[in-house]
Amino acid sequence: MKKFIIGTAATVLILTIIFSIQQGILFSKTLPYDDEQSGLDTQITIHLSHVVAENTPKGQAAIKFAELVEEKTKGKVKVHVYPNASLYNDENEFKALQDGKVEMIIPTFSKMTAYVPDWQVLDLPYLFHTDDEVHEVLTGPIGEQLLDELKPFNVRGLGFWHNGFKQLTAEHPIYTFEDLQGLRIRTMPSKTLERQFSIVGATPVPISFSEVFTDLESHAIDAQENTASNIYSKGFYKVQKNMTVTNHGILGYSVLMNEKFWQQLPPKVQQQLMEAMQETTEWQFKQAVLINAEDLRKLQQQSDFDIYTMTDNERQRWQEQFAPVYDYYRTNVKQPHILAEIQKIISP
Ligand code: LMR
Repeated sequence: MKKFIIGTAATVLILTIIFSIQQGILFSKTLPYDDEQSGLDTQITIHLSHVVAENTPKGQAAIKFAELVEEKTKGKVKVHVYPNASLYNDENEFKALQDGKVEMIIPTFSKMTAYVPDWQVLDLPYLFHTDDEVHEVLTGPIGEQLLDELKPFNVRGLGFWHNGFKQLTAEHPIYTFEDLQGLRIRTMPSKTLERQFSIVGATPVPISFSEVFTDLESHAIDAQENTASNIYSKGFYKVQKNMTVTNHGILGYSVLMNEKFWQQLPPKVQQQLMEAMQETTEWQFKQAVLINAEDLRKLQQQSDFDIYTMTDNERQRWQEQFAPVYDYYRTNVKQPHILAEIQKIISP
């Protein structure tokens, strides 16, 4: 009996010691250093402002980027997305970014040409023929070279995103470029885009995206150029009766971050953000093509909205008519050789 009591006591003692060691009660364990844990108390917030609807190539990509950032940083970085110009519009978003009032914006490259005139190359009519060409140029060395030009502005270019090819909407049908004569056509603010319309006898009217619907509705402007996704998501088809599928130029975005904010981020977070950016970009280019095709289909289903697709012959005439825009561009930029570099990549 005595032996049994001593044996049981010894077993209980041994089990207690093993349990205590496992739980770190007897010998405290030092946790390996994990730099992800060092900043758990410092949540980083990125306010991302943009001007379009959520169900668009840019709106969807902004949401995807926010999700990927959250996932890759394990919740340390939160991206709050403000769509539809709910925080800042075309006129004031770049200043808000420079002043650090928001950390990210995604303006069209056309809207950035006042600061970076070389980006006008992307506005040239009939330069690109396919979405793949746009992808190759914007995600390759030429894209990087263009983004580098942001350095003097306290702004970091994280990359370019795509929307798609632009079409024209108008009150009256546009079959030939002569039909544009005398029209007040809204453009994004870019000297090259303005020249593209003045050369065909129209009056370019550069106004903010958030004013386009009301200006079309009140007939302050007669026409506008945009992608199917912007035309559909902003309801321009409700206040215009006609659209011509011209594919005469591209609309795309620069993804911008305040440079000072970027510099203050831990290197690991910078790397995670760039990974999220690269993943979003690859997804975004594909998504943009799908959304525009789908929105074109939806536009085709609208009653009271006629869609005309330009013939190849007519496209040839427009291209010839637009040729002097290229000369104008060359005299307006610091590095006209970028055009030749792009032309080497794309088909003639
Ligand atoms: C426009 O102003 O037409 C576009 O920039 C809107 C956008 O951001 O896609």
